[in-house]
Amino acid sequence: MQFSIEETKWAGKAGYHYEVLDSTNKKAKELAEAGAPHGTLVTADEQLAGVGRRGRSWSSEPGQGIYMSLVLRPDIATDKASMLTLVSAMAVSKAIYEMIKDCNVYPFIKWPNDIVLRGKKVCGILTEMFTKAGAIDYIIIGIGVNVHNREFPEDIAQTATSIELEIGEGVSRERITELIWMQFERYYDIFMETEDLSLLQEEYQKMSANKGRKVTVLDPAGEYEGTARGITALGELIVDTPEGQKYVSAGEVSVRGIYGYV
Ligand code: BTN
Repeated sequence: MQFSIEETKWAGKAGYHYEVLDSTNKKAKELAEAGAPHGTLVTADEQLAGVGRRGRSWSSEPGQGIYMSLVLRPDIATDKASMLTLVSAMAVSKAIYEMIKDCNVYPFIKWPNDIVLRGKKVCGILTEMFTKAGAIDYIIIGIGVNVHNREFPEDIAQTATSIELEIGEGVSRERITELIWMQFERYYDIFMETEDLSLLQEEYQKMSANKGRKVTVLDPAGEYEGTARGITALGELIVDTPEGQKYVSAGEVSVRGIYGYV
């Protein structure tokens, strides 16, 4: 089914909704390969093979969450693309905030791009970049938000939550979807002004679940502990360690709180 988000300028103007897909990222990639324009959005009620970061799967029960992917065709250098993941996290965080602010539950971002409610993960983002002749051809921003879930598979039961579990009342997946893309457009425009996060850094820090907290940096070159201090204009996590300040790039490295997930 085709749809169009009314309140945005370009994100989700051309929307394609499916009852079931393997993965919205995969479908968005197919559409992009066939020439789908910047802002094309794919949504699904259920995913049979939802993909997470680091080759993990994403639990995608029918009607429980938001499963969606956006095609972007930004005219920026390839090494800037990973910052769009943080831009997306800001958009989701702000959209959830707008949706549930009267409930005294606030979303935070666990660097680089997980959204947490009361210390548990409510949203994951998978950004995939595809290049042609060394330049960005398109980027797929895949967003999964747990909305109505009341339970989770055993392996994530301790760390995952849903909006409904935290605020105890029904929320609309359609409304959150609209709010996410409205916010995304706003943050994306700000990002494109400088092609980095210098104008968004301060706001990101306010949304950060890690700032001032002890973290373990799971670097393949060797794990270490430190205190997260915020992000740089390039989106790296600043970590104070006994050996001095380190700048952690998203990608292969992940970060855990030393007392739990955040
Ligand atoms: C993560 O591991 O935190 C990222 C999860 C991303 C899941 C979303 S759901 C919609 C889109 N389609 C996919 O197959 N994955 C992303």
